[in-house]
Amino acid sequence: MTIVYLTVGFPGSGKSTWSKAKAKQDNVVIINLDSIREMLKADYVSESKIESVVKKIAKDALHHCMDKGFNIIIDQTNLSAKTRAEWVGLVQAEDSSAKIVAVCFTEMDSKILLDRRMTNPRGYKRSKWAMIISNMKNYYTPVGSNEGFNETIMVDAQGNETGSSKKSSAAAAPAKSWGFVG
Ligand SMILES: Nc1ncnc2c1ncn2[C@@H]1O[C@H](COP(=O)(O)OP(=O)(O)OP(=O)(O)O)[C@@H](O)[C@H]1O
Ligand SMILES: [Mg+2]
Repeated sequence: MTIVYLTVGFPGSGKSTWSKAKAKQDNVVIINLDSIREMLKADYVSESKIESVVKKIAKDALHHCMDKGFNIIIDQTNLSAKTRAEWVGLVQAEDSSAKIVAVCFTEMDSKILLDRRMTNPRGYKRSKWAMIISNMKNYYTPVGSNEGFNETIMVDAQGNETGSSKKSSAAAAPAKSWGFVG
């Protein structure tokens, strides 16, 4: 059965680190939208004309990787329910029996996120990253039990998986323990 993992976390929360470790497993591939941005512009940029292409490439990649039977990690922030719903819909359209897993990275205060992000600032100043993270807090919604995920995995600040809940479980609400602390 195909498994698609959707990372959910703020910049610097460890999504790509977790993804790279996971992709060492056979048959697991990563679709990282930042990597596509870097491919297109040789740098980390986010502008609307590029963004529309980035999403198309990512969706095509999902299609081709699912077609080949890979398990796939969609590595991006995925902080809004709307963005997550889009991916869940795409996966279900490709394969209604695919298992879709939300991988939720634990809350960390913004100083830690910024410290971590600044180890590779991608050409941005710390103040710019602070603004980006602050803006993301406005549209972040925790993963809810009605979003179509078959399982939710929690990852702590050290990158360890601390628990998971299946859809059928009554405890399928990481949302309660996963709010952003700014
Ligand atoms: N468990 C950890 N302990 C200490 N440092 C970590 C841990 N996980 C990641 N880092 C460091 O934090 C920085 C950011 O990690 P990573 O790139 O995985 O974040 P991200 O969630 O993918 O961020 P972004 O959304 O900006 O891509 C990296 O320098 C990484 O080495
Ligand atoms: Mg990343």
